[in-house]
Amino acid sequence: MKYRRLGNSDLMASEIAFGSWLTFSDGPRKDRAIACVHRALDRGITLLDTANVYGRGAAELVLGEALSGIPRDSYLLATKLFFPMSDTDRGLSRAQITKQLNASLLRLRVSHVDLYQCHRYDNDTPLEETMLALSDAVRSGKVRYIGFSEWPVEHVEAALGIPKSEKFVSSQPQYSLLHRDPERALIPLCSRSGISQIVWSPLAQGVLTGKYAPGGALPPESRAANDAINGFINPAWLKTGVLEAVQRLRPLAAQAGLTLAQFALAWVLRQPNVASAITGASRPEQVDENAAASGRNVAPELFESAERIIKAAAG
Ligand SMILES: NC(=O)c1ccc[n+]([C@@H]2O[C@H](COP(=O)([O-])OP(=O)(O)OC[C@H]3O[C@@H](n4cnc5c(N)ncnc54)[C@H](OP(=O)(O)O)[C@@H]3O)[C@@H](O)[C@H]2O)c1
Repeated sequence: MKYRRLGNSDLMASEIAFGSWLTFSDGPRKDRAIACVHRALDRGITLLDTANVYGRGAAELVLGEALSGIPRDSYLLATKLFFPMSDTDRGLSRAQITKQLNASLLRLRVSHVDLYQCHRYDNDTPLEETMLALSDAVRSGKVRYIGFSEWPVEHVEAALGIPKSEKFVSSQPQYSLLHRDPERALIPLCSRSGISQIVWSPLAQGVLTGKYAPGGALPPESRAANDAINGFINPAWLKTGVLEAVQRLRPLAAQAGLTLAQFALAWVLRQPNVASAITGASRPEQVDENAAASGRNVAPELFESAERIIKAAAG
């Protein structure tokens, strides 16, 4: 596993990170989730991403259980706040930052998180209130660095200009061969502002692994076949044309000596402003495959061909 510096921080993030969005909950999934966390650590994945809202606290509880007894300085923990935790608890006010941070720390069984991220922008709270409350959280020692996810760039710029405020070191956008929006404005701004990307759904929720055969039945244990969670997948990605285009990447991945999943992750990591690709996994073997995408050198022509193929099919 290779590591990259996270923005202007002293944190070194593993190029492949492990997230706990749809794959962590109670029951049989919990045991697999814990096995995946342990496999991730075994493979050198040290950046673990979660959020208070994943399962309304359930993901943080499982992650806290998985990490109990593991030396705190051997991994980086990133969580988030913003989305509703009850009918009255949501957003980025000072009161919410205090309340949600304390609740996350309890569930995660730790005294601090390495990265506290604003899951979205809060139009109902003055930006200065949010930034100064986050800065106080850093000064209290409960948070080491701060980040944001999917904020409009004008709000990021405004936040960077607030005096006496801690500065963001990370941005968490969706980024993959099938979703390249951050390249337009976000990555340029962050590159000149000491902010790295730690990107979500780098495999387009599994679509870029090639597991979905064009016109074929959905693999029974896959995310797309699970009615409880498949609503999060962009339906356009499961159309035959896109799935065929993904299959056409296979020979390119093979030329690079990679699986399709590894090729898609290496494509994300070709961008120097990306510190880490936050992968999900429903079983430990997927963690093994994904972790092995770190540190791979792929000929730029292979990536250019892949971009052309995907663009022609998905726009
Ligand atoms: N900031 C935000 O708003 C936001 C939003 C979404 C996610 N996130 C973060 O990003 C993390 C990753 O998101 P994601 O789970 O959508 O990422 P992803 O890596 O694009 O998709 C993960 C899913 O793809 C399948 N998969 C992964 N590796 C595979 C492999 N090698 N072979 C075959 N299938 C494979 C698995 O699903 P199946 O096996 O079930 O098919 C797995 O659960 C989340 O856990 C969360 O931490 C953040």
